[in-house]
Amino acid sequence: MSIISDNNDFKSVKSLHSGHKNPVIKPETLESDKNFENSIRPKSFDAYIGQTALKETLKITIEAAKKREQPLDHLLFYGPPGLGKTTLAGVIAEQMGVNIRITSAPALERPRDIIGILMSLKGGEILFIDEIHRLNKVAEEILYPAMEDFYLDMTTGKSQTVKTLRLPLPKFTLIGATTKAGELSGPLRDRFGIIHRLEFYTEDELAQVIKRTAGILNIEITEEGAHAIARRSRGTPRIANRLIKRVSDFALVKHDGKITEDVANESLDILKIDTFGLDTTDRSLLRLIIEKYDGGPVGVETIAAAIGEDVRTIEDVCEPYLLQAGLLQRTPRGRKVSPAAYRHLGVMDRDINDQKSLF
Ligand code: ADE
Repeated sequence: MSIISDNNDFKSVKSLHSGHKNPVIKPETLESDKNFENSIRPKSFDAYIGQTALKETLKITIEAAKKREQPLDHLLFYGPPGLGKTTLAGVIAEQMGVNIRITSAPALERPRDIIGILMSLKGGEILFIDEIHRLNKVAEEILYPAMEDFYLDMTTGKSQTVKTLRLPLPKFTLIGATTKAGELSGPLRDRFGIIHRLEFYTEDELAQVIKRTAGILNIEITEEGAHAIARRSRGTPRIANRLIKRVSDFALVKHDGKITEDVANESLDILKIDTFGLDTTDRSLLRLIIEKYDGGPVGVETIAAAIGEDVRTIEDVCEPYLLQAGLLQRTPRGRKVSPAAYRHLGVMDRDINDQKSLF
């Protein structure tokens, strides 16, 4: 099995969020992550930690496809960034014994980009499109017949002499990944036979990921050290793997190289990653809503302008974890913080009703 990745993979994610103040704990792919991530990516379901229910379903789907000697149905993975959608696609390719071609929607800007990739696929191969919600209309229209009946409709000539040429394609599997399933067009979503959501990882699962990565990188770490990093990794293996490198640097320079609970905590404190895994941006977002908007609701555009982040970074990168951690709520009138956010930030939880009853 080989992995072929387009040169301009993920460039959009990088350019989109490149202004972020603390890239260490943001779950989007950074250019510097790519080689590192590829070197530690699990290649089998056994090595892939977490997403247990999803793995079991996928194993059966793969087994059935193999028995039928058919390619897998098209698959859509959705969920917050950094949870292992690309990794899982690679594991599936490995288990199917086929090549995977990895690209992302923003790299498929012109019709010839998607046509070129489709025409280069061989029977049974997997095409992985990241950020598939960002595919443009033309590329989507090209994909529909390719996904459904495995052909390409090509037009040649102009106006009255225009001819449609129907080109057959080999049977392939499309694996789409998105952080925003709601932004996928209905017709595209309907063409995926299997749709799965990836969940945030538990502390135990992240500790296992951390120990596995430490083993590969020859980093000495205690069980408690792994858990200390896991607790501050926002349920996200990509962040856990990034933190282990930073903590290992600290352990090597300031201590004897071994990551213990104390070393991990000390180093993460220095990185300003708090016990919930929040960084300075997350905390200023919550603090803004509490201090300037009395806990909310307040619109995301207002928040973005006030803390100097773009709306997309807030929605795609900060919010999924704040929502999951129960610190933030989305309401029709904007974002509200929860009582847990007041407690976490050490601000007195004000009981507004009590205050009102004073008057
Ligand atoms: N590295 C990143 N994600 C992983 C996972 N789910 N299992 C093992 N290692 C990983």
